[in-house]
This record gives sequence, structure tokens and C-alpha cells, in this order.
Amino acid sequence: MALLPLKKFELNETASRVNQAWLAEFEQALDGPKADWYRICRDTLYAAWYPAGAGYEAQLAKPQLPAASRATLLALDPHNITLEPEYYADVDAAKFARVKPLLWLWYSFDRTPGAGQNVDLGVRFRRILAERIFARCGKNFKCFQHTEFSFGYNLEVGDDCVVHRHVLLDDRGGLTLGDRVSISDYANIYSHTHSIVEQKEVTNLRTVLEDDVRITYHATVLAGVRVGRNGMVGAGALATKDVKPYHVNVGIPAKSIRVKPNAPADAYATLRVPKREE
Ligand SMILES: CC(C)(COP(=O)(O)OP(=O)(O)OC[C@H]1O[C@@H](n2cnc3c(N)ncnc32)[C@H](O)[C@@H]1OP(=O)(O)O)[C@@H](O)C(=O)NCCC(=O)NCCS
Repeated sequence: MALLPLKKFELNETASRVNQAWLAEFEQALDGPKADWYRICRDTLYAAWYPAGAGYEAQLAKPQLPAASRATLLALDPHNITLEPEYYADVDAAKFARVKPLLWLWYSFDRTPGAGQNVDLGVRFRRILAERIFARCGKNFKCFQHTEFSFGYNLEVGDDCVVHRHVLLDDRGGLTLGDRVSISDYANIYSHTHSIVEQKEVTNLRTVLEDDVRITYHATVLAGVRVGRNGMVGAGALATKDVKPYHVNVGIPAKSIRVKPNAPADAYATLRVPKREE
């Protein structure tokens, strides 16, 4: 294995300046005294998709507009769409109504050329949204494209966390990420589960990924699992039970195959995860 830290890669001057100006303007609008996040979402998506079009309302009022175009235009306004958590009986309607426009903007903007695979703008744009959606968002949060959440407002994220592409962060029962947590592509982290008899019976359980945890490619962590600090869930694994600090768990169900060689002698003396018996 070779040590390959990410290299510094600068965007060109024009794009950098334009992105910076827009993000500053966007952030200022979000934090304005009477900011209407629904309106900001609608206008941002409209500007992204219809750069040279007439104003949103003028466009919508055109009588010759095809029905599909009208429906799509309406959908730019989060008042006119529904998101799955709005159907959940346990949603805090007021909290969700607050974050809904930012979630909708996040998901929709990810489908534009501005975000998607566009790392520089996408990461910075999502960080602005995350800081206003999550219960807590630490510094330097880095999130790639097509991440999805349940409520968004039940998610706590520490400093320097990285979430890669196509990750599901289900925070319905609460989800806590410590500092320097890394979640790889296509991983799924759950915090709710359904009864095997009555599907409508839901159990919400907070899932915790402690400091320096790595959940790797295509792994799944089930509701209520606590992955101890520096723990790792291997590619394609299904973590049904707690992962001890510094352990590497793989397989279905995930089992420990090794303790990381850098584990300190007191790796198990943690207040968060019970001491190992053996
Ligand atoms: C967790 C991981 C690093 C394990 O690597 P490792 O400690 O070097 O383990 P080994 O390759 O020595 O394998 C030990 C045993 O576990 C098995 N194993 C390893 N990874 C496995 C996995 N993801 N699922 C099931 N079994 C696995 C091996 O086949 C081997 O079995 P054997 O003893 O019967 O031959 C690796 O599985 C993994 O998930 N890599 C993901 C890559 C990564 O780092 N992603 C993050 C990028 S941000």
C-alpha cells in the first residue's frame, strides 16, 4: 500500500470567484431576518434550471405551457411537493417543515450541473445547508453527491466528517457521528426498524458512530448499533450489533476479524462501549 493523501487542487479563477460570490449571497439570504427558505429554494432551483427564463410566476402563468412543464415548475417550490418523512407518524411536523426546503434544495441541486459530481461547489453548497438542517454540524463537513436523510434535524455530526456519494443517513431515531467519521460510497446507516409481524410497528433507536469510525463501501449499519471509536465496518458488511473500539468487523452479520494494530492498551476502557470480557 502507498500513502496517498489528497493533493491540493485549485479550481480556475473565474469559476472560483463566481461560486464564491453566489455562495456568499446565498448564505446571506438564508440568514436574513425574514428569510423565507421555501422561496429561496424555489428561486435558486429556478435560476439553476432556467437561467434565461422569464420570472418564475410569469413562466408559470403562460397559458400555452405544457402540463408536464407546469408540474415540474410547480415542483421547484417545496410547498408543492411531499417528502417521504411527511407521511411518518413520528415526524415532528414543525421541525420538518423548517428543514424541508433545504432538504429539497439539497436533493434537487444535486441533479444540476452546478452540484452533482462538481466537487468544489457541491461540497461547499451542501455544507451551508447541513449547518442549517442538522441538530449539530461540526467544522469542515464534507459531503459528496446524492446523500439522503430521513428527518435531517435528528442528525448530529462532529468535526471533519466525510460522507461519500450515494449514502443513506437515516436519522429517524437519531444519528450521531463523532469527529473524523468517514462513511464510504453506497453505505446505509439506519436508526429505525419495523416489527417482523406488524410492519406499522416502528422502533426508533439512536445509532452512534464514535470518533474516527469508518463505515466502508456498501456497508449497512442497523438501528441502535454503536460503532466504538476507531472501529471499522468492512465493505458490504451488515452491522447488526455494536462494534468494539478499534475492531474491524466484516461479513453478514458483521463479526470482528481483527483489532487494529494501532489500538492502545486501554482501547476497551471506554465509557461508551463496555469493556471486553475475554
Ligand atoms: C475491512 C477490510 C479493510 C479488511 O481488510 P483486512 O484487515 O486486510 O482483512 P484481510 O484481507 O486480511 O481478510 C481477513 C479475512 O476476512 C475476509 N474479509 C476481508 N474483508 C471482508 C469483507 N469486507 N467481507 C467479508 N469478508 C472479508 C477475508 O476474505 C479473509 O478471510 P479468510 O481469513 O477466510 O481468508 C476490507 O474488507 C474492506 O472493507 N476494505 C474496504 C476498503 C476501504 O478502506 N474503504 C474505505 C475507503 S474510504
